[in-house]
Amino acid sequence: MSNNNIQIFDTTLRDGEQVPGCKLNTDQKVVIAEQLDALGVDVIEAGFPVSSPGDFKSVEAISKIVKNATVCGLTRSVENDIKVAAEALKYAVKPRIHTGIGTSESHIVHKFKTTQEDILERAYAAVKYAKSFVEDVEFYAEDAGRTDNEYLARVCEAAIKAGATVLNIPDTTGYCLPSEYGAKIKYLKENVKGIEKAILSCHCHNDLGLATANSIEGVINGARQIECTINGIGERAGNTALEEVVMVLKQHPYLKLDTNINTSMLYGMSQLVSDSMGIYTQPNKAIVGANAFAHSSGIHQDGVIKNRETYEIIDPKDVGVTESAIVLTARSGRAALAYRAKNVGYELTKLQLDDVYANFLSFADKKKEINDNDIHQIIETSNVYQQIISA
Ligand code: KIV
Ligand code: ZN
Repeated sequence: MSNNNIQIFDTTLRDGEQVPGCKLNTDQKVVIAEQLDALGVDVIEAGFPVSSPGDFKSVEAISKIVKNATVCGLTRSVENDIKVAAEALKYAVKPRIHTGIGTSESHIVHKFKTTQEDILERAYAAVKYAKSFVEDVEFYAEDAGRTDNEYLARVCEAAIKAGATVLNIPDTTGYCLPSEYGAKIKYLKENVKGIEKAILSCHCHNDLGLATANSIEGVINGARQIECTINGIGERAGNTALEEVVMVLKQHPYLKLDTNINTSMLYGMSQLVSDSMGIYTQPNKAIVGANAFAHSSGIHQDGVIKNRETYEIIDPKDVGVTESAIVLTARSGRAALAYRAKNVGYELTKLQLDDVYANFLSFADKKKEINDNDIHQIIETSNVYQQIISA
């Protein structure tokens, strides 16, 4: 792995599956895991094995079929969780245990009702115990986003001493600003003793719509793993969207940060997850939404027809979308109508277009969107139809 390679840790099947109203069965999870492996993710977080027999079974089944990616299971800093996760992961070619504990004052005081020193000891002990089963142990400091940096650095040091290979710095509540989250990663890079033995990981939630921006700031400041989900699904407002961070890095090559993702599979992957979970993807969702490459205003359509790059920064084929869509509505202009008419077989002269366009506008005022059948009807009922077909 080059120092500029960003590891993509997919948690669609764990944090993503925590989305209300969603439950996947083991077969569905296995299909998604196979596709994630083909997509090129580096780590698949397959579940939280101690949480239910179903989750255990899914992690075990995924461990058996994944060929390339590391397969990871979540635990709390509890011995039995770790033992059960190790059991579920025993068939994985590359197993990872992901263990951790809350480190913010709010978690220490209200959730654990204990002290900072006790949390440090529990963190150390959990990593040490996980190391007795697998080599690859990731430690998460839950609510790191609201944890004081000095104390967070001490927790990270303890986890490294116990053998952690990855340190996950979750912005669990999606609270941080990008500059704050970036500064936190930088602080840890510069102040944690032994940091060269582990990589830092960004795990950002989207409560303020900043998950993608925070993850990108994290890697700019030295983190080398991003934890994310397909379509950004997850608890509350969701997690960082995999397709977004991957495309941000691809579209900004001067950052010199790349991933192993085959981006042409992104759209298909998004559809698979949305169909399996029964969770509809908003049309304006970046990269994979139905409107991400659709143009409906006349000015934009005219530009895109002349040169796609006037209004598109991504080639749709790069993410597995066949082509940009020119959507015909009452807001469309002559260029868009001529383009769509040509696609269904009519080459219109300028004068013919003027006449057909007037007919189009009266249709479009009655209908939200004009489809190919409507175009035939518009042309057939125009004054110049005989002229067009005899040309
Ligand atoms: O958001 C979070 O803090 C988590 C941890 C359990 C990794 O999902
Ligand atoms: Zn999370």
